[in-house]
Amino acid sequence: MAKSKKEKLYEGKAKIIYSAEDESEVIIKFKDDATAFDGAKKGKIKGKGSVNNKMSCFLFEYLEKYNVPTHFIEQLSDTEMKAKKVEIILVEVVMRNIAAGSLCKRYGFKEGDKIETPILEFFLKDDDLHDPLMNEYHAYALNLATKDELRQISKLAMKINVVLSSFFERRNILLVDFKLEFGRYDGKLILADEISPDTCRFWDAETRKKLDKDRFRQDLGKVEESYKEILERVLS
Ligand SMILES: Nc1ncnc2c1ncn2[C@@H]1O[C@H](COP(=O)(O)OP(=O)(O)OP(=O)(O)O)[C@@H](O)[C@H]1O
Ligand SMILES: [Mg+2]
Repeated sequence: MAKSKKEKLYEGKAKIIYSAEDESEVIIKFKDDATAFDGAKKGKIKGKGSVNNKMSCFLFEYLEKYNVPTHFIEQLSDTEMKAKKVEIILVEVVMRNIAAGSLCKRYGFKEGDKIETPILEFFLKDDDLHDPLMNEYHAYALNLATKDELRQISKLAMKINVVLSSFFERRNILLVDFKLEFGRYDGKLILADEISPDTCRFWDAETRKKLDKDRFRQDLGKVEESYKEILERVLS
């Protein structure tokens, strides 16, 4: 840990948010704790905090080069990042390129089905309500975001999908789907939270081997190894 007077502002399931010297910033510490199925399954993935921090730092910096505004400021250590302190918009934004997870359960897609026009989904970020699927009208009714903000969020999510899909394609990895969180900072909308194997599905393009949290959810084994492998392939 870098500075002594930092205080814990919030502890979530995967990360701890600390105050930084500058009030407009936070220090995000990534933990090894893992949860799945709405918190019903709990465990630890050794080295996950480090993998998720390093991958998030790298991908936020990469997205900035494509003019995607993010909360990323700098990597502080293996498991800590300095970021802009945002007011999180309570909408989880999911983009899907290949069917997996809840999409299969909800609509009868088969896992692995290619989705020709990527699907953009919104979920209410509320653990007590089990993060229900919603549309933009629910978001307006709940005062979660303005019309202009949701329009920007949708546009950014689609751009991020294009940029990251081709980034991963070059590494022989399929970006199956991913979840984003956005926040307000200085009157502007920016990408926040994390981009990691906890929040994305990654499959090897040839073998379709899973390289993400599904290895933990589905007890597929080699969990730690897969987190390390996907980080190495991102950084290579
Ligand atoms: N730059 C940021 N500024 C402020 N909060 C942030 C920032 N980036 C992420 N957060 C929030 O930090 C919290 C902790 O992250 P973590 O992933 O551990 O939470 P979670 O358990 O998934 O979700 P939550 O506790 O919000 O239900 C989340 O609520 C996330 O939205
Ligand atoms: Mg989270």
